[in-house]
Amino acid sequence: MKTLIQGGTIVTASDKYKGDVLIYGETIHSVGSDLSAQAEKVDKVIDATGKLVIPGGIDVHTHLDMPFGGTSSVDNFETGTIAAAHGGTTTVVDFAIQQRDGTLRQAWETWMGKAEGKAAIDYGFHMIMSEHTPELEKEMGALVDEGVTSFKLFMAYPGVFYMDDGGIFRCMQRSGEIGATICMHAENGIVIDVLIEQALRRGEIEPKYHALTRPPRAEAEATHRSIALAEMAGVPVYIVHLSAAEALEQVTAARTRGLSAYAETCPQYLFLSYDNYEEPGFEGAKYVMSPPLRDKANQKELWRGLKRNDLQAVSTDHCPFCFNEGKQLGKDDFSKIPNGAPGIETRMSLTYDGGVAAGRISVNRWVELTSTSPAKIFGLFPRKGTIAPGSDADIVVFDPEAETVLRAKSLHMNVDYNPYEGRRVKGVSETVLSRGEVIVEKQSFSGKAGRGQYLRRKSRFEE
Ligand code: URP
Ligand code: ZN
Ligand code: ZN
Repeated sequence: MKTLIQGGTIVTASDKYKGDVLIYGETIHSVGSDLSAQAEKVDKVIDATGKLVIPGGIDVHTHLDMPFGGTSSVDNFETGTIAAAHGGTTTVVDFAIQQRDGTLRQAWETWMGKAEGKAAIDYGFHMIMSEHTPELEKEMGALVDEGVTSFKLFMAYPGVFYMDDGGIFRCMQRSGEIGATICMHAENGIVIDVLIEQALRRGEIEPKYHALTRPPRAEAEATHRSIALAEMAGVPVYIVHLSAAEALEQVTAARTRGLSAYAETCPQYLFLSYDNYEEPGFEGAKYVMSPPLRDKANQKELWRGLKRNDLQAVSTDHCPFCFNEGKQLGKDDFSKIPNGAPGIETRMSLTYDGGVAAGRISVNRWVELTSTSPAKIFGLFPRKGTIAPGSDADIVVFDPEAETVLRAKSLHMNVDYNPYEGRRVKGVSETVLSRGEVIVEKQSFSGKAGRGQYLRRKSRFEE
């Protein structure tokens, strides 16, 4: 199969120019300004006049089909990846979970089973380690050989995923030896649990207390500590879902010192705020996630971090629970509301609209934050994350002028609400190719569940 994408503006992290992309099979054959002579020799021509031609989005933080908070996230690998494709994302890196007393291989195989036959786009896995044992520490190397080259550890959620500093440090040391990266959920869960207990004793049960018992300092302290532990262990650390300016200060200071400290933020922290928890009734439960939404003033600092490369990626932390089911578990106790919100489908449009169209970041930086930089940090580049000969033909024809209104009923995520309901955004993914196959044509899914492939990611030693 040969496809020509003609007449668009090709945008990568570094370049922007009018040109054509010629695809042979699953990969990009050539890129140039004079490929129209090929039009008669190809099977399909996609007219991209007036559109941006960008590398497919890469979302390195999703939780599909994840048991959590007494229930399960409601998008599985089929519904979640089809929604992702609609939104211009062609790769996800999801989190497999090692169960207490289980092995890492069991966890990886379980999550491979969840994705196989279902995923519509390519996927990889990080590994959540729920505990440290000498056996698990030893096993980490075998996981890296399978392409699971990052491990997520938690300073939050005591009794669930929480690991103490000793365990974290040992996992970090091992990751340093084997070329893996540590992803850190940086919140001081021990202090937060005290605050939750005290709030509940005072009868403070509404959703807003989720935010009020998880102060930004608890995130900043844990961010500082995880970077210090990683420095001593000699391993790169990637702070996931960074929400607060105080935490960002810690990352900025570390990077200024030349440390391998990286961080992502998510659209919810750029576009929503603590005010959402004050919505009437139980509405605030829709926004219960950890870390929580912060005061609006943080948003400006996060945008500045994105612009200046103190933050290197925007991912989604997509972890949806229905408002009318899962979220109701916490009707009488905010601490029982399952943590997480939907976002896999709306990331590219929200960040284009709020970032590029609003003049906060360049279009190149947008591509870098949503595709190139996560591909580099997590061992997928240059197969993914750019438009260049030899790279996978994961390409989005993106209409920068089209507008859409975000509504749960017209989006494809398997969840009964949307945190951005009614928000008008400029910039829409129109046509999406995954390894050369058109999987979204004029905003309509034309791919197949199960066509997605597992991505064996590179370790730092294979760069
Ligand atoms: O609230 C969140 N973030 N839910 C997903 C689990 C996690 O900590 O990433
Ligand atoms: Zn987390
Ligand atoms: Zn998460």
